[in-house]
Amino acid sequence: MAAIAPSGVRIGCRRIREGDEAHLLPGEAHSIPARQPGMRRASGAARWIAHGLLAELGVGDAAILRTPSGAPVWPEGIMGSLAHDDDMAVAAVAPVGDIASLGIDVEPAQPLPDDILALVTTPADRTDAADRHLAGRILFAAKEAVYKAVYPLDREVLGYEDITVDLNAGHATTKTGRKARLAYCVAPRVVVLAFVEKDRG
Ligand SMILES: CC(C)(COP(=O)(O)OP(=O)(O)OC[C@H]1O[C@@H](n2cnc3c(N)ncnc32)[C@H](O)[C@@H]1OP(=O)(O)O)[C@@H](O)C(=O)NCCC(=O)NCCS
Repeated sequence: MAAIAPSGVRIGCRRIREGDEAHLLPGEAHSIPARQPGMRRASGAARWIAHGLLAELGVGDAAILRTPSGAPVWPEGIMGSLAHDDDMAVAAVAPVGDIASLGIDVEPAQPLPDDILALVTTPADRTDAADRHLAGRILFAAKEAVYKAVYPLDREVLGYEDITVDLNAGHATTKTGRKARLAYCVAPRVVVLAFVEKDRG
């Protein structure tokens, strides 16, 4: 998975385990509305990864609070993104620099059900370079990752139809005019990283 990260971006994953909710710092636990234990466990696992990545950047003990929109708050000078599926949590962080914003998503490496594929796909999306069985799943994860990268910049809720993905070229555009680059892997899970470059977004 580390191979998909552009220079300067740190990325990590962790299988979600019993008790991972204990990794939420007090402020984080408070910022995450009462939800199912499994969701809190996943949020704790993702933050455990992020805390470690932040420590590598010399930032210790920083709480990654959840805002009412769902977007996480990163320490001054850092940007990042979190995601989890039922089994795995992932996180990516980078110092603010050439990259203005990051988004990540993780999904099981299984074909996307046809009904969801129909909701996610627009005629302008291009996926023919991707694995035929996983193209829909990668497309889905790409749109979620792009949304997470773009939301902190524009604060606008987007639907799948508002994001056009070209997996062949490795980029996406939003109806708000943002452009994001995409990188992904498919094993052992589908992980897509979207990043908006400074002055090009
Ligand atoms: C952001 C969103 C797509 C996340 O999807 P999800 O399947 O629920 O959850 P994921 O595991 O992929 O990601 C969860 C993480 O996303 C991050 N996140 C949530 N809302 C976010 C936002 N608005 N901006 C950036 N990141 C966000 C959080 O860090 C969250 O982790 P946490 O709950 O531990 O704090 C979804 O919650 C959402 O807000 N959807 C509304 C808009 C939408 O669905 N549009 C269609 C997709 S383009």
